[in-house]
Amino acid sequence: PPLRPVPHLLTLADLTAPQINRIVRHSLALKKTCDPWLQPQVLPPRLRLPSQSLFNKSIAMLFTKRSTRTRLSAETASELLGGRALFLGKDDIQLGVNENIRDSIRVIGGMCQGIFARVGEHSEIEEMVKYSPVPVLNALSSLWHPTQILADLLTLHENAALFRPLIAVEDDSESKRKYPKHLPDLPPLTIAYLGDSTNVLHDMLVTYPRFGHTLQVATPPAQQYQCPEPVWNRVKELGCDTNIKWTADPREAVHNADVVVTDTWISMGQEAEKAQRLKDFQGYQVTEALCSEGGAKPHWKFLHCLPRKPDEVDDEVFYGPRSLVFPEADNRKWTIMAAFDLLFGKWDIASDRPPH
Ligand code: CP
Ligand code: NVA
Repeated sequence: PPLRPVPHLLTLADLTAPQINRIVRHSLALKKTCDPWLQPQVLPPRLRLPSQSLFNKSIAMLFTKRSTRTRLSAETASELLGGRALFLGKDDIQLGVNENIRDSIRVIGGMCQGIFARVGEHSEIEEMVKYSPVPVLNALSSLWHPTQILADLLTLHENAALFRPLIAVEDDSESKRKYPKHLPDLPPLTIAYLGDSTNVLHDMLVTYPRFGHTLQVATPPAQQYQCPEPVWNRVKELGCDTNIKWTADPREAVHNADVVVTDTWISMGQEAEKAQRLKDFQGYQVTEALCSEGGAKPHWKFLHCLPRKPDEVDDEVFYGPRSLVFPEADNRKWTIMAAFDLLFGKWDIASDRPPH
């Protein structure tokens, strides 16, 4: 039979909206099956066995940057799927020092059944994809962070009831039509993002508009804080640009917001720019006062991928009742587990069939 093409996932722009929906729904199913906090006594352990699609399989984690959530999610999820994740940091293997990407990836792909890669420049993971005989999943690159937005979607979906009362009044037939029927209980939201144009924001840009949500983004005016051209091209290809408003005014961005999101102002690798960035982002800190002055909806909730610094959000918001950040962090595990099951275990992420 002809060889199946190897599926890779570098950004959620690589998937259709139903495929994204499928991963999120599958995450929820896995969470319900496995999370001891959800069903401690209800199901006997043998009925809590999830898909064992990674049985006898190993996943290589090629991480050239630090990670807490993504790493823990991958390692614990692989175990639940019956397989093993091997953490290979930049000081552990020959890659990048004594060996090029092409040779390392061919060898790693000969022994492992999937590659979960956290890289510096996005071109590094594109190079891996060129030579990998097994699926490659992006664990964060300079441009994209797809698994983060899967977790954010699951978190919003689980908390849909928080947004429903006010939005029902504002709902119109156009947004109802655009909203995919697979997640009927999350209404179209206005999602504000304040801060840098980072990997996290970029996967929001190519995802939320396709689910009927409106994005309102505020970044400082300097060119370096605007959306990079390769990302904006993907945004336009998917028709997402019509549902995105971009401004330099954080108050304008939070107007009418159901959800306010931010990310660090100093991403990994940008430490040398710290002083300049702290200056340029003055006025962008997410606070109660800013969101109230800007006219965010009374029920607005807060998301952050973590790790967090107090510069971009104060303690009152971060640790307060609006914050969904810790359920969001917990959901990294279930969404990464679903992506591993479908991509590495079943090579089936591009199929619309329900997971088995
Ligand atoms: N949100 C996120 O990717 O966190 P880590 O860097 O801890 O993996
Ligand atoms: N934008 C951040 C995300 C960390 C999860 C970074 O790249 O460091």
